[in-house]
Amino acid sequence: MSPLNSYKHILLLLPFLLISHFVTLSNSQIPGFPGMCNADDIKTLLRIKIQLGNPPSLNSWDIANECCVQRDGWDAVQCNYDGRIISLSFYWNEDIYKIPSFLDQLPALVGLTFFSVPNLTGPIPRYIGKLTNLTSLTFSTTNLSGPIPTFLSRLVKLANLDLYDNKFSGPVPNFLGRLKGLTFLSLSNNKLTGPIPKSLGHLTRLETLALHTNNLSGPIPDFLGQRLSNLNGLVLYNNQFSGRIPTSLGLLTRLTYISLFNNQLTGPVPRSLAGGRIAIFRLGNNKLTGDATFLIDKSNKGVIEVDISNNQFKFDLTNVDLAPRLFTFNISHNNIYGRLPKLFYRLKDYFGKYGKYVDITYNELCGPIPNGRHLKRVNPIFFSHNKCLCGGPLPACK
Ligand SMILES: *[C@@H]1O[C@H](CO)[C@@H](O)[C@H](O)[C@H]1NC(C)=O
Ligand SMILES: *[C@@H]1O[C@H](CO)[C@@H](O)[C@H](O)[C@H]1NC(C)=O
Ligand SMILES: *[C@@H]1O[C@H](CO)[C@@H](O)[C@H](O)[C@H]1NC(C)=O
Ligand SMILES: *[C@@H]1O[C@H](CO)[C@@H](O)[C@H](O)[C@H]1NC(C)=O
Ligand SMILES: *[C@@H]1O[C@H](CO)[C@@H](O)[C@H](O)[C@H]1NC(C)=O
Repeated sequence: MSPLNSYKHILLLLPFLLISHFVTLSNSQIPGFPGMCNADDIKTLLRIKIQLGNPPSLNSWDIANECCVQRDGWDAVQCNYDGRIISLSFYWNEDIYKIPSFLDQLPALVGLTFFSVPNLTGPIPRYIGKLTNLTSLTFSTTNLSGPIPTFLSRLVKLANLDLYDNKFSGPVPNFLGRLKGLTFLSLSNNKLTGPIPKSLGHLTRLETLALHTNNLSGPIPDFLGQRLSNLNGLVLYNNQFSGRIPTSLGLLTRLTYISLFNNQLTGPVPRSLAGGRIAIFRLGNNKLTGDATFLIDKSNKGVIEVDISNNQFKFDLTNVDLAPRLFTFNISHNNIYGRLPKLFYRLKDYFGKYGKYVDITYNELCGPIPNGRHLKRVNPIFFSHNKCLCGGPLPACK
């Protein structure tokens, strides 16, 4: 994947991530809170600080400072009205080497986040399973490894479980199906193997399922479409999923983002996916076949991005009336034939400044480039490796 694409993935996931990381804070945190932390919680935090070896990044954890105050208080700490610690969020702490073990002595704790804490290694410690009140747990961009441990199944109140970017291995565990309150689940960027377990069909509140960049295999199961009716983002790219894209995904009326890029998927794209709800389709680098005009034409009115590159699609582009909001599309490396559609010039802006957002190269297209004179300054390379395109930035038609 190009750096541009991965950058866009981050941008896209950002709203999900932000929501997930701050999910626990919105109701309970009050700006300008006087800062009277509960004395027991202060003691526990100071014990934690010692256990972590007095890291400089926790210098603010000092009784000279009010712990619950928002700006000048203790870093990483959020409190509720009663001065109890409701959430600990460690971001970019390079000097933290372990997960503290006294967290169960913070009775109001509902959120725990370690994000970009690179020296956190080894498995998730067993005592995390004691934190049964957690609604949000994030170990993201840390260096944790081992299997995803079974004791996480005790955290039945979790709405957010984010294990993005670690070194977890083994299967996507069955027990995750017991965490029925999950709305956000990310196990992406790990070393997980095997299929998507059936039990995930129980996660009917799930809004985001992100399993990308692992080594998962087997089919994309039918039950995702049949049961996860709140799914908004389905992110399965960079795996070894095979078989067809299930028609049942068309039942997901809230789905707006689907990324199946770089798998082993075969067969046609089910027509049930079109119709205008899904804004972003990333289906490149598979072995998909057939006609995909319904993804880019005006019947798919909500679509803004389509990537079907590097597949075996074969269809005539001539009469496609492009979707009105289509902003970027990549159809390169297919067997697409015919002429460029008349309204193609509408995309000229993206050829100009942001030329890279349209890629039609490596197909069987032929004939004049519509309104080619508007595109004269566009690099002809954007039209290359087709059968016989001509005019505009390319040599005149004969
Ligand atoms: C869970 O919350 C309840 C009620 O707030 C509290 O009494 C209990 O100690 C908490 N349990 C843990 C493990 O923090
Ligand atoms: C993880 O550990 C490796 C070395 O084992 C190190 O290079 C890397 O920076 C660490 N952090 C992350 C986030 O991978
Ligand atoms: C902690 O992590 C940072 C960033 O990956 C690294 O530069 C540093 O060497 C690590 N510290 C130790 C003592 O391993
Ligand atoms: C992924 O799994 C396949 C077998 O399913 C294996 O051949 C391949 O080496 C694995 N790739 C990685 C990067 O682990
Ligand atoms: C379009 O897709 C191909 C194949 O996946 C890729 O090599 C190319 O960089 C993509 N084009 C753009 C503009 O991202």
